[in-house]
Amino acid sequence: MELLENRIKEEGLVLPGGVLKVDSFLNHQVDAKLMMEMGKEFARLFADKGIQRILTIEASGISMALTTALVLNVPFVFARKKASVLMSEPAYVEDVYSFTKQETAHITVLKKFLPAGEKVLIIDDFLANGEAALGMARIVEKAGSTVAGIGIAIEKAFQKGHSRLIEAGYHLEALASIASLEDGKVTFTKK
Ligand code: G4P
Ligand code: NA
Ligand code: NA
Repeated sequence: MELLENRIKEEGLVLPGGVLKVDSFLNHQVDAKLMMEMGKEFARLFADKGIQRILTIEASGISMALTTALVLNVPFVFARKKASVLMSEPAYVEDVYSFTKQETAHITVLKKFLPAGEKVLIIDDFLANGEAALGMARIVEKAGSTVAGIGIAIEKAFQKGHSRLIEAGYHLEALASIASLEDGKVTFTKK
């Protein structure tokens, strides 16, 4: 998606350790118009999949899952990273290990917000090692629903997540695919 790639070129900051900082439009300050365009693009990419629900994870997945849900006219739910005392109802819980943070999160979705027998689109802002996406996919499958696709805003194709999701048989679409962040430079995957 050219609009997103251009923003990454203009405002993205490459940090040591293969991390791309995009907090001026995605991870901290959020460009609502860009999120709307991303929602339209996700909706277009998965238009023929019969999507009935969207699942994302807090915090940064929410803004683009919201706009995608608006365009597709389906409900969306976000997994919580910490179960709150208010969640004393039956829930799906999956352990997701973050290599970036070197800690395990217990991602949680109440069962009542993930009915069985649906086609679910998983959305997230970044794909690195794929732990978050695979954790959400396990939750969808435990619920008796189908992962109809995985939509990622920015994938780092040089990390394991891309190939892990493809090998697991999921339909993966990334709006921007980064081949390398070497030498402080963003290189996009050739299409
Ligand atoms: P994984 O799920 O693909 O295995 O990724 P990992 O655990 O390594 O990522 C942990 C967090 O860091 C996630 O956000 C993920 O979106 C984010 N992340 C990974 N690589 C990058 C990167 O290069 N740039 C940026 N900006 N973020 C990256 P999170 O902790 O869940 O935070 P939130 O933003 O959703 O609150
Ligand atoms: Na993130
Ligand atoms: Na995220």
